[in-house]
Amino acid sequence: MSKDMHFTNHHYLHLLLFLMQLMNTCCYNGELQPESFSVPLPPPSIDPQNATLEYMDPTLPPLLPTQNPKCSLHLLGAEFADTMGAPPTSITFSPPHECPAPWSSVILDFSATASDVQKDRIAAIWLDGAEILRTSTPYPMAPGVFWHVHKDITRYTALLRQPFGGAATENILSMMLENSNATFPGVYSVNVSIHFYRGVIHEEVDEEPLKLSAHPTTKGLYKKPADKIIPISNIIGNGSTGFWFRLTNETEVQSRSVMLPNNIYRAMLEIYVSHHGDDEYWYANPLRSSGPRRQEAGIELAPPQSNGGFRQVVALIDGRYAGAAIPFPVIHPGSVNPFFWAPVAAIGAYDHPSYDLDITPFIGTLLDGQPHEFGLTVRDCQPYWLVSANLHLWLDAWSDEVEGKLVRYKVPPLRLSRQADWKEMEGKSDMEGAVIIRFSGWVSSSLGNVTTSIRHKIKFKSHIEIQDKGATKEVDLESKSRTNIRVERDGMVIGRVLVDTEAPLQMETISSNGGGGTRFHKTKLAHGLAETTSVTAGKMASSSTISDRQDSEGSVLMQDGITVWGKGDTKSVYKFRDDKSCYLRTVNTVGGKVKEDEKSASCAAAGLIGATATL
Ligand SMILES: *[C@@H]1O[C@H](CO)[C@@H](O)[C@H](O)[C@H]1NC(C)=O
Ligand SMILES: *[C@@H]1O[C@H](CO)[C@@H](O)[C@H](O)[C@H]1NC(C)=O
Ligand SMILES: *[C@@H]1O[C@H](CO)[C@@H](O)[C@H](O)[C@H]1NC(C)=O
Ligand SMILES: *[C@@H]1O[C@H](CO)[C@@H](O)[C@H](O)[C@H]1NC(C)=O
Ligand SMILES: *[C@@H]1O[C@H](CO)[C@@H](O)[C@H](O)[C@H]1NC(C)=O
Ligand SMILES: *[C@@H]1O[C@H](CO)[C@@H](O)[C@H](O)[C@H]1NC(C)=O
Repeated sequence: MSKDMHFTNHHYLHLLLFLMQLMNTCCYNGELQPESFSVPLPPPSIDPQNATLEYMDPTLPPLLPTQNPKCSLHLLGAEFADTMGAPPTSITFSPPHECPAPWSSVILDFSATASDVQKDRIAAIWLDGAEILRTSTPYPMAPGVFWHVHKDITRYTALLRQPFGGAATENILSMMLENSNATFPGVYSVNVSIHFYRGVIHEEVDEEPLKLSAHPTTKGLYKKPADKIIPISNIIGNGSTGFWFRLTNETEVQSRSVMLPNNIYRAMLEIYVSHHGDDEYWYANPLRSSGPRRQEAGIELAPPQSNGGFRQVVALIDGRYAGAAIPFPVIHPGSVNPFFWAPVAAIGAYDHPSYDLDITPFIGTLLDGQPHEFGLTVRDCQPYWLVSANLHLWLDAWSDEVEGKLVRYKVPPLRLSRQADWKEMEGKSDMEGAVIIRFSGWVSSSLGNVTTSIRHKIKFKSHIEIQDKGATKEVDLESKSRTNIRVERDGMVIGRVLVDTEAPLQMETISSNGGGGTRFHKTKLAHGLAETTSVTAGKMASSSTISDRQDSEGSVLMQDGITVWGKGDTKSVYKFRDDKSCYLRTVNTVGGKVKEDEKSASCAAAGLIGATATL
């Protein structure tokens, strides 16, 4: 990270992050401290004539298959004006008769507009209480901002399909987006459709591969969608407060007790999370025992706890650890510098990644016909996190009961070294840790006696440094994970999976006096997600790599916790490669406008090779 930024007045002490945490209520379910907005200034706006109104997530390639869908359902057309505290908007629907399951592909098509300036809000879509999309709205800085999210939801087929001979013939789709048009006038209008495809999917046109849907995780491993999906979500009151669980501290576990079928042969827990409130900036949270707390303009600038930049979402089965993920630090559209994310969203903001934990080795512990408790918790968390999970189950159509056993369970505690060295306003903190967990279990079904062994390694590092009496702040986060899955039958290895993930984040902010009671913050940010997956099944082998990187630079001028002026430039480079194809997209935005947007089906484009090399 370059250190070549110079400012004249170094002694005005503010940390952009803490300040913006107060000023920007991204994704709060309720208005935060409305009294601190005694003069409700509008958020900074960009002249519509000079702004790009289509906001986007450039890191995802276009994905709609090129042929027409077999059928499409327009499910929801809703306005979210003043919806704080209101239950989700729900509709019932029946899967289309003219194109019954199975489908070769199912695409969720979400499109939205903001009538005017508004804050960013968190939103989600559920099918029968199971989450299928976690998304944030942009931080629209001009009237008429619009955006789209297309997501491949084929893996949720079990939730869309008409249940065989079941009593229920209708599915329920719900969406929650708590907005308030009291302070800022923006009203969000949303349309949700689902497109169903049958037959061969034409993936390529003009040599452009179109099959990618979202940031792949182990999603790609089991091509066949699960037979049954059980939501591990907040079903109390029919989801009237949203089907997500709200976690406010590290000891809190939210769980759901469920009855499971007795013929499961494979199981996967998929977790959705998002961070809010005091943890909006968890990735930049310093570690302090008794932190320097500052008063400025009567506002407390430090978060309630300064417990460091490490969080981990943990899944529990009957109270026992069954897997975990370090969440990718999705930067909300109003976070850090809202001008970075207009019109280009931060990685994952419009389609938050979900985390797949293969829990097949635990099946043997779940087959006793008794209810089992699936719990979720977030290590070291502060208020608040919204979490939910989907239990994907594959069932043995030829048996009513299978047998199984968990034979290996090695879960050493994740020990983090924590070092903090602060003198008044200045100092640094470091956290570092690594752990390897191992599970193994067999399931004997009509597919044979199959043993699944999982080895999951994570490595984590957080460095936060504050210098010049608080005027410079540096954040350096590194998290890596490697998952190995080995599948054996009759002592022979029949499948292997390797997934490597890396998520680096570096940020530097320099603050200075902007004159007239204002403060000027200049920030440089580099953020990335790199993932490599290789799968071997019998004699078939395939691999794919994604590397997604954003570099942003810009400034904001703030007065009394409100951004009064700002600018930001962001360069995004997204690269996907598999055995057959390569896709590259580069988007450059300067001052709210798209200056360059290039797509290529060849990764050999000049000048771009180095751009992702640092990942
Ligand atoms: C748009 O930007 C240009 C400079 O890039 C400026 O001269 C012009 O006044 C702006 N238009 C409006 C309506 O603000
Ligand atoms: C939603 O769909 C309606 C009807 O097709 C259309 O008039 C409206 O512009 C759409 N709104 C958005 C946000 O896409
Ligand atoms: C909020 O939006 C609704 C629906 O568009 C509108 O009727 C209402 O007047 C708006 N409220 C404010 C305070 O602007
Ligand atoms: C939940 O919703 C279903 C379907 O809309 C309804 O039949 C049921 O009465 C509701 N239950 C509660 C507790 O509100
Ligand atoms: C954690 O949150 C739960 C639920 O809000 C609360 O009951 C509990 O007292 C909290 N624990 C701590 C240590 O704050
Ligand atoms: C399945 O295989 C495991 C390990 O190879 C063995 O211990 C177990 O007894 C087998 N189960 C059945 C039902 O054959």
